[in-house]
Amino acid sequence: MTDVLKLKVAAGFEELYGYQPLGIWSAPGRVNLIGEHTDYNEGFVFPFAISRRTFAAVALRTDGIARVASSFSSDVVEIPVAEISRQTVSGWSAYPLGVAWALKELGKANQTGFDLFIESDVPVGAGLSSSAAIECSVAVALNELWNAGLELRDLARVGQLAENQIVGAPTGIMDQSASLLGQLDHGVFLDCRDLSSQVIDLGFAREGLELLIIDTRVEHRHADGGYASRRAACEAGAAALGVRSLRDASAADLARAQELLDDVTFRRVRHVITENQRVLDTVAALQAQGPRAIGELLYQSHQSMRDDFEISIDELDTAVETALRHGAVGARMTGGGFGGAAIALCPIEKISEISRSVEAEFLALGYAKPDIFVVSAAPGAHRE
Ligand code: GLA
Repeated sequence: MTDVLKLKVAAGFEELYGYQPLGIWSAPGRVNLIGEHTDYNEGFVFPFAISRRTFAAVALRTDGIARVASSFSSDVVEIPVAEISRQTVSGWSAYPLGVAWALKELGKANQTGFDLFIESDVPVGAGLSSSAAIECSVAVALNELWNAGLELRDLARVGQLAENQIVGAPTGIMDQSASLLGQLDHGVFLDCRDLSSQVIDLGFAREGLELLIIDTRVEHRHADGGYASRRAACEAGAAALGVRSLRDASAADLARAQELLDDVTFRRVRHVITENQRVLDTVAALQAQGPRAIGELLYQSHQSMRDDFEISIDELDTAVETALRHGAVGARMTGGGFGGAAIALCPIEKISEISRSVEAEFLALGYAKPDIFVVSAAPGAHRE
């Protein structure tokens, strides 16, 4: 697949612009194993980069103009880099153009423009960070072509800045970090306060396990209100507790939180506090006992998102419960919520039974046909 996309992105570039790109850069989507809505609370996350990627073919221009196009849209957007703003760009082009804007804001853009063509097999709206895959492929490309000299951690901030300021989605730092720092067969355990990270062997294959993605095909967008309102509740909760962020609160603060906060804000806060602990527990269990020991933590995370954070939907709950009933070691919804995908950690010999059962259950309930596939932990963004 990767080789095909690499050839296609080069051919797409040449056909559209009439010359060859200077290079091809790629970045993966990500799946979050555990640690949801903890990133913007300066907490812990444990995602990994997946074997689905976005490829960017890029060449420099000398006139300060950026042209961006992709195989998934017929638009070719053309704009001077100096004129990129929240008002002047929209749609998918806001992701690559937002990255150029963010580099310029950091004083890292020489005033040359670029031509860009994108191909991707990261599903859109599935909670697998197709947006971060675009941002990070463009970030590593422009970092090199514009001699910006930024490290991967800084490039994660560049992607987040693009998404917050130009796309207008108030998202955290997890997706870009996973896409940039991922390694084959490893998860990225990240402290979102200082961006220190540790790659951790997942050991799935050794234990006869595979991670199944169950994409409900219910599309979500983080520029919509649900994500922002969860973030606002967390900030209000932290302020009421007198802490800089919910990272600084622990289970010992829950009784006080319940007294101080209204019921909804309390449950939002409880999700974040318990989820941070579950990330730490998952990493510890994985390292001490291996991946079969993390199943219960995955399901507790799902319950917390369903009941306390209230970001699950019926399709995700059905996917999780059905997978568990048919032998998954653990399962949970993943990503920002309100749609997207669930993950199920499954014994290899159960994969087809679990997939068939989830499909049958969706059909019986009148839901759209889910897209079900296995992912493995893949390397982060790089030049091809
Ligand atoms: C989205 C955001 C991330 C993170 C998750 C929830 O994927 O982009 O920053 O907040 O939701 O964990």
